[in-house]
Amino acid sequence: MPYPAIWLRDNCQCAGCRDPLSGQKLFQITDLALGLTIDRVEEAGDAVTVSFSPDGHVSVFSRQWLSAQLPGAAGDGRTEQDKQLWRAADLTGRLPVTRWTAYCRDGSERARVLAEVVRLGFAIVREAPHAEGTVLEVVRTFGYVRETNYGELFEVRVELSPSNLAFTGLAIAPHTDNPYRDPVPTLQLLHCLSNAVNGGASGLVDGFMAAAMLRAEDPAAFETLARTLVPFAWSDARASLRAERPLIELDPARRVRGVRFNNRSMQALRLAPDDLIAFYDSYRAFAEVIARPELQLTFRLEPGDCLIFDNTRLLHSRTAFSDSAAGSRHLQGCYADLDGLMSTVAVLTGTP
Ligand code: OGA
Ligand code: ZN
Ligand code: ZN
Repeated sequence: MPYPAIWLRDNCQCAGCRDPLSGQKLFQITDLALGLTIDRVEEAGDAVTVSFSPDGHVSVFSRQWLSAQLPGAAGDGRTEQDKQLWRAADLTGRLPVTRWTAYCRDGSERARVLAEVVRLGFAIVREAPHAEGTVLEVVRTFGYVRETNYGELFEVRVELSPSNLAFTGLAIAPHTDNPYRDPVPTLQLLHCLSNAVNGGASGLVDGFMAAAMLRAEDPAAFETLARTLVPFAWSDARASLRAERPLIELDPARRVRGVRFNNRSMQALRLAPDDLIAFYDSYRAFAEVIARPELQLTFRLEPGDCLIFDNTRLLHSRTAFSDSAAGSRHLQGCYADLDGLMSTVAVLTGTP
C-alpha cells in the first residue's frame, strides 16, 4: 500500500471520525496514537478495510477514492499547471463568449463560460442590459462583490480631476489592478455602457504565458522577479493602501500562481544598488515580453458587453480615445474573487 498508517488513520471516514452531516473531521492530529501501524488489510470488491495498532480502530475506504488520492493528480486550479496558456493567435476568432440570455437561462452554458475564466483567464458576456449597475448583476450570477474603498462598483470615464489615469482618455498599458492590496482582488469585471469614441479598444495579455516565456528566455530575470518584493501604493483623502509582493508569484512547488504588474502604482524599491540594477534589468525584460504584439489580444467592448477576467493572471489595457460626435466612453467595473466563481463551476458541474 502506498499510503502510510498515519495518513489512512487521519482520513478515516467513519461516523466517529467525521461528522456525518457536515463531513468535517472530529479529532485533532494530536488525538491520534503515536507510532500507528497497519495491523491488517482486507479487500472485498471496492471496499478496503484497514485495522490499526495500537488504537484498534477499523476504517473502511473505497478503492476508487484511494486511487484518486495518489500523488501527481491535478493541482488546485490556480497555478499555471492547471491553465491553458495562450498567445493572441490561439484565440483570434474563438474568444470565450456567451450571450446574457443564454447564460442566465442555461446552467450548462453558465458552467462552460465560467470554466473558461478559470482555464483561459477571461470570458465576455455579450448583450447584457445597457443599464448602470448591470455589472453587479453579472457578479451575482457566480459570486460576490469585493467591495473596496472605490465602492461596490467604480466608474471608468473621463473625469475633470482624475484620481487615476484610467479616468482620462490616455492609453493604459497592460496591467493588473489594485496591486497595492493584499489579497489582491482575484477577479475584475468591466461592463461597457458606451464606447462611441475614436480609439478605446481593449487588450488582454496572458501574464502566465509572459512569465513562462521569460523563464525560458531569461531564467535569471525570472528568478529575480519571483524573489524581489516590490512596493505598490495608492492613496487619496480617505484611503492609504500599500502592499509589497513580487511581480511573479510562485507557489512552493515553484509554479507561477500570480502576476502583479502596474507601473502606475509601483513605488520606490529600497534595495542595495546591485539588487536594484538586477531588478530593473529583469523588470524591463518582463515588460518587453508583455509588450510583444504576439501576446496582445485586442477587441472592442460594445455597450452591453461585460468582460470577466482573472486579475491574478491576465493584464488588461486600452488604447487612447477621444470623444466623437457619436458620444463618449463609459464602463462600470467591479471586483470579485475566483474562489466564488470556481465554487459555482463545481456546483453547476456536480464535481464539488
Ligand atoms: C481600469 C482599466 C480599462 C479601460 O479601469 O482598471 O484598466 O478599458 N480600464 O478603460
Ligand atoms: Zn474512524
Ligand atoms: Zn485596470
